[in-house]
Amino acid sequence: MKIDGRQWRSVWAEPDGRAIGVIDQTCLPHRFATVRLEDAAAAGHAIRSMLIRGAPLIGAVAGYGLALALREDSSDAALDAAHATLLATRPTAVNLRWALDDVRAAVGHLPPAERAAAAWARAGAIAEEDVEINRTIGEHGLDLIGRHRQAEGPVNILTHCNAGWLATVDWGTALSPIYQAHDAGIPVHVWVDETRPRNQGAALTAWELGCHGVPHTVIADNAGGHLMRLGKVDLCIVGTDRVAANGDVCNKIGTYLKALAAHDNGVPFHVALPSPTIDWTLTSGDATPIEQRDGDEQRWVWGRSETGEIARVAVVPDGSAVGNWAFDVTPARLVTSLITERGVVPATAEGLAGLFPDRAAA
Ligand code: MRU
Repeated sequence: MKIDGRQWRSVWAEPDGRAIGVIDQTCLPHRFATVRLEDAAAAGHAIRSMLIRGAPLIGAVAGYGLALALREDSSDAALDAAHATLLATRPTAVNLRWALDDVRAAVGHLPPAERAAAAWARAGAIAEEDVEINRTIGEHGLDLIGRHRQAEGPVNILTHCNAGWLATVDWGTALSPIYQAHDAGIPVHVWVDETRPRNQGAALTAWELGCHGVPHTVIADNAGGHLMRLGKVDLCIVGTDRVAANGDVCNKIGTYLKALAAHDNGVPFHVALPSPTIDWTLTSGDATPIEQRDGDEQRWVWGRSETGEIARVAVVPDGSAVGNWAFDVTPARLVTSLITERGVVPATAEGLAGLFPDRAAA
């Protein structure tokens, strides 16, 4: 996607082939900064500290991280150790495990001397595949948005967290249909949930949409239900970090409440996902590992002061206990459809298996 007219992706191989570059998402929206990651430790740190985040991007960076690890030591033991270290960086997005397994499978049978180059090539291919998958998700989702087009006024879409190009290599999942609808001349307006505690909606989704010229309004996390009751939301589209084989959807905390409100108000609730986000080993979303993060994310909020300084301020009394569950599970019955690169299906075991018979059976 473009920032000030220049094409960017959220991760790239540096021209010297010795490192990857990423956008430091902790600096957005107030400052645009890139970071060069030269080894597996740096890639792992970028994932753990959420310099980069979003399920598909976590997978892509982890794939490169494993390749960088093999440059230091390409033995069987080192391959397994780097896989385990990177896998431990964040628990919920299954794309992390998927990418690490994929790269390991692609190189594990090779002589150690050939592994680093092969892993680098495979990591690059994963990144390229992610772009194409998300572009295709956008095409399928564009049809869904088009169905809500009216004679007057925009199609109003609510989204939660950031499932845009910053969360993938390019395009995004939930935002890809929105970008493609906007580009196709369908008037769209996006209700952007701020997404406490880290404010990925307010900071990242709003910034992305603004860069692309998509009309949007940032709302408090709790406003969505009210807007749905008023008829101001035509459809919801969110991303996901892990979809169980039965169609249950795990996504950023607060997604479940939006799905409940959408169900109560007859508002379609769509989930956009690339197939590496499906966890075929889970028969229900109940077993999804839910990340619990540092309580400081609840206690403090980062922002720009009136004098232009980036600062954090406390919003919780000293001494109050805090809880910071980062994800929740939305039961499949509340999900209208799953938008994948192979098409749009009901959120059911049959729907998913019908679309991916090769993987469901594996
Ligand atoms: O904690 P984050 O910012 O990594 O969470 C991201 C989300 O929950 C996204 O909605 C999800 O990864 C889908 S990304 C296309």
